[in-house]
Amino acid sequence: MKIFKLFNNISWLLSVTLCLALGVAVLFAFSGEAAAKQKKLTGVHANTSAMPTSCRACHRGMAIAVSGEEDSCLTCHGSVYARDQMIRRGHLKPVGSAPLLDIENELKKPYNHPVLAVKGVHRKIEALPEEVVNAARHSECVDCHDPHVVEKERPFRGIKGKRVGNFIGEVSEEYELCYLCHSESANLPANSTDKHLEFKTTNPSYHPVEGEGKNTFVISLKKPYVGQKQKPNQVSQISCRDCHGSDDLDGPKGPHGSNYPGLLVLNYQMDDGYSESEQNYALCYKCHERSSILANESFPYHALHVQGQVGGQGGTSCFTCHDAHGSPQYPHLIKFNTDVVFENLDGKLEYDAAGYSARHGSCMLNCHDVDHGSQGATSTSGTSTTTAPFGVEGVY
Ligand code: HEC
Ligand code: HEC
Ligand code: HEC
Ligand code: HEC
Ligand code: HEC
Ligand code: HEC
Ligand code: HEC
Repeated sequence: MKIFKLFNNISWLLSVTLCLALGVAVLFAFSGEAAAKQKKLTGVHANTSAMPTSCRACHRGMAIAVSGEEDSCLTCHGSVYARDQMIRRGHLKPVGSAPLLDIENELKKPYNHPVLAVKGVHRKIEALPEEVVNAARHSECVDCHDPHVVEKERPFRGIKGKRVGNFIGEVSEEYELCYLCHSESANLPANSTDKHLEFKTTNPSYHPVEGEGKNTFVISLKKPYVGQKQKPNQVSQISCRDCHGSDDLDGPKGPHGSNYPGLLVLNYQMDDGYSESEQNYALCYKCHERSSILANESFPYHALHVQGQVGGQGGTSCFTCHDAHGSPQYPHLIKFNTDVVFENLDGKLEYDAAGYSARHGSCMLNCHDVDHGSQGATSTSGTSTTTAPFGVEGVY
């Protein structure tokens, strides 16, 4: 008994000494002593049966003060080869049923977050949303995951974000994380837009990410999706992740990379002139019944536009009329793609909705040489079936 206790004490002492030694090493390595003293591991990376060397699994060798680049993560979250090296060196023990998934492979896909491509831009202390107009854009693993506290099912635990009223708090919703770089950032690329301005609940319409949607009766919605939640099993709010993420259903979750343009989970044909199919608009048909859209249950001319005409110019993409995020201008997510939609003969490019229950509104615009809603509109393409629904009065 006594010997056993003594042994216990010795091993306790030993581990305390080890911890102290490591602590000193870490203190030494980072001049921010206070930070190091406070730095405790919690969450997945604190599990010493999976990560026996604790801090040293990431802070080791020349890189003891790691920079925040992906290298210190891809050792375990990258290729099988790299992972085997970590296992051989005793930094990782295979525990649990499933092996770690390969994030590096996702990041190498054609549409990705530029984790691999951008080097040396992230700083431990940086202001996000970015305040400097010409600052280089970046996204590192540690911008989205805090390795010291990250938990399973809480992948961005510990990340601080900007809340309403400039209050800085911990990110709890996924969109708050995304807004760190896709909302007010002073350095948004020219072809990119402020996502909060698209999703905010004061817009006439928006996909229900920040809050429930405006339209209580969206006829095409598939179960369990509804406009307004009334029963526990209904879903009235969606997330960025419902549309953005890996194209591989069995791959790692998260917006690391995809083979589909827009870093989307499913295919979405955004150009006009293609025939309608389940695959071409797979993203929308994930939640909206294809048969409802094609049966014109809401917009009486959905099928005509989406399918195009037999022997005609092919179909019009949902993207030509709808914005997948929201519309600061119109109901029903109407935002015209101005690459193909222009002003009509009267110089107008407008959508007039007639209210949710009316199921009719009107368009004043010109699309593929077809004039809608101008005084005495005629089709310059000469296809009478295309002009008929809009005709002179332009009402559908
Ligand atoms: C899973 C990998 C990982 C583990 C395990 C880990 N760290 Fe870190 N640590 C990092 C990364 C990456 C950074 C850089 C963060 C950045 O640049 O934003 C960092 C930064 C730090 C910093 C600098 C200040 C800060 O908050 O960014 C301190 C101090 C620190 N770690 C201490 C520790 C200690 C002590 C342990 C063990 C108890 C530990 N770390 C375990 C990855 C890890
Ligand atoms: C020594 C190996 C190792 C290193 C290095 C490492 N991780 Fe991990 N990571 C793990 C293990 C083990 C888990 C838990 C996986 C599980 O339980 O399925 C994990 C889990 C995670 C998760 C949560 C996954 C989930 O299931 O929700 C994230 C996010 C993550 N790590 C990010 C990082 C980041 C960022 C870095 C680099 C700063 C990093 N990891 C470095 C081993 C490592
Ligand atoms: C730390 C900054 C940062 C955060 C946080 C961030 N992103 Fe990004 N994202 C970028 C950068 C940088 C790009 C490259 C293009 C650019 O500069 O906007 C990008 C690109 C994208 C793209 C376009 C990819 C393509 O190939 O077309 C999508 C979609 C995207 N991000 C979605 C998200 C979502 C969803 C979230 C939240 C889960 C998120 N982002 C969080 C920095 C970030
Ligand atoms: C209903 C599906 C859907 C949801 C939900 C969604 N997106 Fe998108 N997103 C798209 C589609 C489709 C595109 C490509 C077409 C486009 O650019 O509008 C896109 C493009 C993007 C882009 C690249 C274009 C740009 O402006 O930089 C970013 C960034 C982005 N989304 C961020 C987000 C963020 C952040 C969220 C959550 C707050 C989100 N998305 C939610 C469907 C969605
Ligand atoms: C993850 C599920 C999901 C996906 C994917 C999705 N939607 Fe939706 N959509 C919804 C929900 C939920 C609503 C109900 C919002 C409301 O009540 O206003 C909705 C509503 C709409 C509305 C009606 C908005 C209004 O105010 O009348 C349109 C238009 C729409 N979606 C188009 C699209 C298009 C186009 C795509 C593909 C790019 C798409 N949706 C993909 C879930 C989804
Ligand atoms: C732009 C933000 C962003 C960046 C950059 C990013 N991640 Fe993620 N990651 C996410 C989000 C969001 C999720 C959770 C998605 C979900 O739960 O649907 C996630 C999930 C994960 C998971 C859990 C996967 C699973 O299937 O459970 C791991 C592990 C992970 N990330 C590691 C990394 C590593 C390692 C890096 C850098 C090489 C990285 N991430 C870069 C946003 C990001
Ligand atoms: C030519 C323009 C146009 C195209 C192309 C178009 N829509 Fe619409 N859509 C509309 C208009 C206008 C409404 C509003 C109808 C009303 O007044 O209620 C609408 C309404 C909707 C709604 C809300 C009501 C409902 O049916 O649930 C959804 C969802 C929708 N569209 C999805 C799609 C999808 C998915 C595609 C592509 C496959 C598509 N739309 C293509 C113009 C278009």
